[in-house]
Amino acid sequence: MASSVTRRTFLQVPVAATVAGAPAIVSAQTRGDALRVAFIGTGNRGTADLQAMLKVAGAQVVAVCDLIPERAQNAASLVAAAGGSAKVFTDFRKMLDEMKEIDTVVVATPDWTHKDIDIAVLEMGKHLYAEKPLAVTPEDCRAVLREVKRTGKTFQVGFQLRHDPATNAAMKFIAGGGIGRVLMCHGIRHSGEGLPRNIPWYHDRTKSGDMLTDQGIHILDLFRGVIGGHPLRAYGVGGINLFKNEPPGRTSMDGYSVIYEYANGVYINFSHHYYDPPRFTGTWEKVFGSDGSVDLVKGTWQGREKRETIQLDIPDAKQDSTYMAMAHFVDCVRNGKQPTNNVDSAIESTLQALMGTKAIYEKRIVTWEEISAA
Ligand SMILES: NC(=O)c1ccc[n+]([C@@H]2O[C@H](COP(=O)([O-])OP(=O)(O)OC[C@H]3O[C@@H](n4cnc5c(N)ncnc54)[C@H](O)[C@@H]3O)[C@@H](O)[C@H]2O)c1
Repeated sequence: MASSVTRRTFLQVPVAATVAGAPAIVSAQTRGDALRVAFIGTGNRGTADLQAMLKVAGAQVVAVCDLIPERAQNAASLVAAAGGSAKVFTDFRKMLDEMKEIDTVVVATPDWTHKDIDIAVLEMGKHLYAEKPLAVTPEDCRAVLREVKRTGKTFQVGFQLRHDPATNAAMKFIAGGGIGRVLMCHGIRHSGEGLPRNIPWYHDRTKSGDMLTDQGIHILDLFRGVIGGHPLRAYGVGGINLFKNEPPGRTSMDGYSVIYEYANGVYINFSHHYYDPPRFTGTWEKVFGSDGSVDLVKGTWQGREKRETIQLDIPDAKQDSTYMAMAHFVDCVRNGKQPTNNVDSAIESTLQALMGTKAIYEKRIVTWEEISAA
């Protein structure tokens, strides 16, 4: 039977800081002193981000933009249903030119567009919540980093899993020494959902950065956060093993396994593919230490020689990770704080993903120095 670890035993560790208690879910869409937020890209993810933002106190969505007018219109309808009103645009530069009152932007456009849109938004003096990855090449990652540093704007990247209540509690427990020395992290992402066929650009690796940089990056970001620092070396194997030319012209992989080595022999072993049948599927994010192991998904831990699995105390357990990430971002903008997923963290997680992808493509070990200089 699961027993409880008290919050006090690990809550004071300054890792993966999130809002101190989830703000009440009340609509802020009519408040005069709220942050004025605009959305660029209201497809799959932009819509989910918008729905989360609409629940955050202290934020008011005033404009939405998508190249596809129906998508922008649909987003405006969601704002209206939440009691607000958003102007609709198909050109984000026009939106930011016309509506000077916008102070904060969420960008959820395809991966290969991040660099140019993020830089343009920052240049126009806006705080920015930018979907992951930071960009799809090391050079473009550094260009975004430079612009964030130059403008000094609040900048958070969409690694919302760090804000998942169970994962956040588990990461704090590890950082507080709960499992002793971290030895290795083991991740599996076998989605059971097949290919994401409704997102055409995802299958072009020049646009998505491929499946590790677009999706595996989430779990690898968590493991990097748990271990600290960045990997020294990566090696992996993968390719298009099953879904050849499906959809037609496909260039992104359908499966891979990758290993990262960190300092002191700490390592990550991660497997990700689309060919799992429904009963052979699942997401697994486990961290193994000298004194025990933690399940980042469930927020549980077990001592190394114990039989009992212990449920950690999870503040805000019922809150959604995207809502928590948006609430954290709004709190950081309003109070001048550094987000957990700031640009320094996001560039390391994105370079880690690009490093693993390069290792797989080139069938050789790739080092951190090499990817940092690329
Ligand atoms: N954090 C997460 O868990 C998560 C999950 C899924 C996707 N994402 C990220 O979100 C982003 C979007 O992914 P998606 O699945 O929503 O893709 P999508 O194709 O469904 O949506 C992208 C939208 O951006 C619009 N767009 C493109 N260029 C634009 C421009 N210049 N101005 C305005 N709109 C523009 C497109 O018309 C489209 O509607 C990607 O970066 C992806 O990696 C993050």
